Amino acid sequence: MKKVVVLGSTNVDTILNLNHFPLPGETMKMENMAQAGGGKGANQALAATRLGAQTSFISRVGDEGAADFMLDTFKKDGMDTDYIYTSKTSGTGQAFIMVNEEGQNSIMIYGGANNEVCPEDVQAASEVIKNADILIAQFEVPMEAIVEAFKVAKENDVKTILNPAPATNDIPAELIKMSDIIIPNETEAQLITGIEVTDRDSMDAASNKLIEMGAGVVLITVGSTGSYYNTGDKTGFVNAFKVKAVDTTAAGDTFIGAFSTKINDDLSNIEEAMTFANKASSIAVQAAGAQVSIPYEKDVQI
Ligand code: RIB
Repeated sequence: MKKVVVLGSTNVDTILNLNHFPLPGETMKMENMAQAGGGKGANQALAATRLGAQTSFISRVGDEGAADFMLDTFKKDGMDTDYIYTSKTSGTGQAFIMVNEEGQNSIMIYGGANNEVCPEDVQAASEVIKNADILIAQFEVPMEAIVEAFKVAKENDVKTILNPAPATNDIPAELIKMSDIIIPNETEAQLITGIEVTDRDSMDAASNKLIEMGAGVVLITVGSTGSYYNTGDKTGFVNAFKVKAVDTTAAGDTFIGAFSTKINDDLSNIEEAMTFANKASSIAVQAAGAQVSIPYEKDVQI
C-alpha cells in the first residue's frame, strides 16, 4: 500500500447555493445553505485515504465540535490523525463557498488555525515523512512549513507533489525546485509562469517554463476538459469523463489525492494514474460538498 503524507489545511465549508454569483452592490436570495468538511489539505488527505493509500495528515484545527466531527470522519476512513494538532488560540479554518447553477464555485477563506501550522509541526512529523512514498502540500498553510516539509522529503528521497493553490505568484524558487510533480490548474499555471494558459500550445509553454524553474513533472488540471502532463520527455492530455456537475468543490483535491495513490515511482503509468484521478474527480463533482463527495476506491470503476 502506498504511503502518502499530506501537509495542509482543514476547513469547515459553508456552501451557499445561488442561481448566479452576486454582482457588486447586489442583494440576493440564496437557494440553499449547508455546512460540510473541507480544506484543500484535508480533502486531498481524505481522497488519498479513501482511494487506497495509507495516509497521514499534518494540520491544525480549533478546539470545537466541528473539528471533532471531521476528525471522527478521518479516523473512521482510516487516516492517521496523530499529526493534526489542536490550536489553543484559533478556531478551525473556514471557507465560504458560493456555488452557482452551473456547479461553478467562488471561495473565500478564513485561515484560523491553519495559519498556525509551523516548521515545528513538520519536525514533529518528520519520521512519518521520511518513511513515506509521497508528500503532498498546497498553499492554505504557511509557506515556511511547506518548505520545511519538502526539505525533509528531499533529504529522504520521498517524492513531492506541490499543488500551488490558492493561486499566488509569490512562491519561493527553492520550493519549485524541490517539487518532483507540480499540479496547478490553468489559472495557477498562468499566475506562476506569466503565460496565459488557453490551449495545448500554451500548456506546453507554461509547463516547459515550470520545468525550467526546476519542477520535475507538470500536470495541469483543466476543469471538465481533463488534465495535461509534461514529464520533460513527453507531453499528453487525458480527457475527463463527461458528467453533469452539481458542485465542483474538491474536484481538484480529489484528482490529486487519487493520482498520488496510483502513480508509480518511475511515473511509467502516468496516463493510467491520471485516468483514475479524472474518474474519481468526475464522481466528486456529482454531489454537493467537499469531503462528503469524495469517492471510495470501490466506487471508481474505469
Ligand atoms: O479545494 C476546495 C477547498 O478549498 C474547499 O473545501 C475549501 O475549504 C477551500 O479550502
